[in-house]
Amino acid sequence: MGSPPGEDYGKLRETARFSLESRPNTLTQADVTAPAPFQFVLARRRILVIDDDELSQMLTRDMLSLRGYEVVTAGSAAAGRAAVDQQPPDLILLDVVMPGGSGIDLCRELKEDPQTRLIPIILVTGLTERDAKLKGIEAGADDFLNKPMDSQELFARVKSLLKLKQFTDELENAETVLFSLALGVEARDSYTEGHCARLSSYAEELGRHMGLGEPELTALRRGGVLHDIGKIGVPDAILKKPGELDATEWNVIRQHPLVGEQICRPLRSLAQVLPIIRHHHEHWNGMGYPDGLKGAEIPLLARILQVVDAYDALTTERPYKNAWDHQATTDALLDETERGWWDPEIMPLFLKMIGDRIKDAHLPETHSSLEAQNLP
Ligand SMILES: [Fe+2]
Repeated sequence: MGSPPGEDYGKLRETARFSLESRPNTLTQADVTAPAPFQFVLARRRILVIDDDELSQMLTRDMLSLRGYEVVTAGSAAAGRAAVDQQPPDLILLDVVMPGGSGIDLCRELKEDPQTRLIPIILVTGLTERDAKLKGIEAGADDFLNKPMDSQELFARVKSLLKLKQFTDELENAETVLFSLALGVEARDSYTEGHCARLSSYAEELGRHMGLGEPELTALRRGGVLHDIGKIGVPDAILKKPGELDATEWNVIRQHPLVGEQICRPLRSLAQVLPIIRHHHEHWNGMGYPDGLKGAEIPLLARILQVVDAYDALTTERPYKNAWDHQATTDALLDETERGWWDPEIMPLFLKMIGDRIKDAHLPETHSSLEAQNLP
């Protein structure tokens, strides 16, 4: 059993929560959109042609190679999947009818795999294969081409989808930088190690328990990692200060939700995460920051993250306290809910969700056992 909450533990806790197509052979200026000084870093775009018909495969390969693309080929769905796993291409041209596995099944498989879902796929079908096209749409194909292939149509579609792929690559890169930055902030404080990953997992689980949809669950997962990214602007002397913070230091801490929102705002893909970042320190009674929002004015996803953040802070060791067990944490958080800190519906719901799991799993009530079982 951990210690009961002291007078200032909430305050103290707070201090610790914080190629384009480079075409070397036949490069045409019209295809190059990057500024000249950057062209040297652009790689050739790689296209995978999956077709069991050797003649058709060779014709497609020659047409695309002449335009400067790097082309790899595979003669079956299984060989195509192996080629994707070995080196993911920038685009796939996929024949629908092949012995030993249909192109539609492979398309579905690739689109369901998080590692490959962003690779554009053009399904190649016969002119009259309406049924195959409908199934292809369901399987997530990005475009279609009819056999026999018209070279101009092939080039136009390939070029357009590669441009789209370039944008998604850039977006992914930008997101990766932000996530790395957020984990870097977390790593500055050894006491909060693993905090972001636990929050993501807790928040998603609670959101699912509350019946939220996939976009909200994704935002909660991302919010778990990114919520404290604004602490990058907080000096170590404040972030790691063992004693109480003075008014000026508190002011610096209180900026981190705003700084975090500013850092993530340029990425439209993070739009649903911004309210979590900005409002994860509001309190139900309006006494939180930065906007002093009250009750349901606080965005729902931010209220969910607050609840799991509070739970994680108490069930893990910090410089000023030991890790508390589930019962002591429940008592403290219900008391805080009474005092108006947390959403009075979501907090009990979360505590019951965790409590039920502990009972079902017959686990001792400690955080480490929760983690060992990967719960929640
Ligand atoms: Fe925070």
